Amino acid sequence: MGKKSNKGKERKQQRKAENGKLIGEQREIADTLRHASEVKDLLKEYPAFQQYSRNGLNLSLEYYWAEDMPQDTQEWALALCKSNMEEMYNRAMYNGGWNNEIKLEELAAPEARFLVAYQKVNGEQLDPMAFVHFRWECEESVPVLYCYEIQLEAAVQRKGLGRFLMKFLELIARKAGMHELMLTVLKANTAAAAMYAKLDYVPHETSPLEEEGENYTILTKRLVAPAPVQQPLRAVTNSFQLENIIFGS
Ligand SMILES: CC(C)(COP(=O)(O)OP(=O)(O)OC[C@H]1O[C@@H](n2cnc3c(N)ncnc32)[C@H](O)[C@@H]1OP(=O)(O)O)[C@@H](O)C(=O)NCCC(=O)NCCS
Repeated sequence: MGKKSNKGKERKQQRKAENGKLIGEQREIADTLRHASEVKDLLKEYPAFQQYSRNGLNLSLEYYWAEDMPQDTQEWALALCKSNMEEMYNRAMYNGGWNNEIKLEELAAPEARFLVAYQKVNGEQLDPMAFVHFRWECEESVPVLYCYEIQLEAAVQRKGLGRFLMKFLELIARKAGMHELMLTVLKANTAAAAMYAKLDYVPHETSPLEEEGENYTILTKRLVAPAPVQQPLRAVTNSFQLENIIFGS
């Protein structure tokens, strides 16, 4: 689905101002993102997620940076996006309609990261059946995992694999210290929207409002609780006030 941002909107400005970070905090965010994006052997830490053997599927997962993804797998990923999404993109005129070159550029971007699920038969890795494309990004001054794409071959849909991959992304994002897991979904994509609703995604603050008439929604799942609102410090002038602060009234 790629990524949409509702630029120039008042709410975005407001949130940016509210989120205004000190330079030290910005550095911390940059470090968190760099740390996450530099990992090459991501799956090593997650043995339980290296395969998916449920509902008649037997798949094994691989993790790639765009530059390491085998060319035939990249070609397959582009073809799968096209066959799953072309009609929906064209009907909604999303990003001006389907465009192979733009999608290939997205898939080949140096910051693109992929989980690919391959069919596994008698221990042998065969055809790719599903993938997610994600990136580590800073959105509205917080570090997020942005899911650019989740695409499954028709033969492996409705077998829990989409949920498994999204839950895995969530785990990876939490472990890497991301504040949110974000994605963009076309309103016409009712199947995907149903899955995200089931997984507790909600519209992001920057998602277009209904009256703006856009054909997409920006969804998010918060992975950390918002920072508590700082109460202004009060001068404590007597023991009654002190007791009140410690034990409440
Ligand atoms: C959307 C997609 C990723 C869902 O993955 P999946 O493995 O088929 O979905 P799951 O089996 O994990 O289903 C999880 C939940 O999502 C919802 N869901 C999934 N597919 C659905 C469909 N076709 N209709 C209605 N609800 C659906 C259901 O609530 C389901 O829970 P349930 O099985 O307990 O009812 C997959 O169908 C796909 O790749 N579609 C084509 C590409 C696409 O649209 N990508 C998303 C772009 S944003």
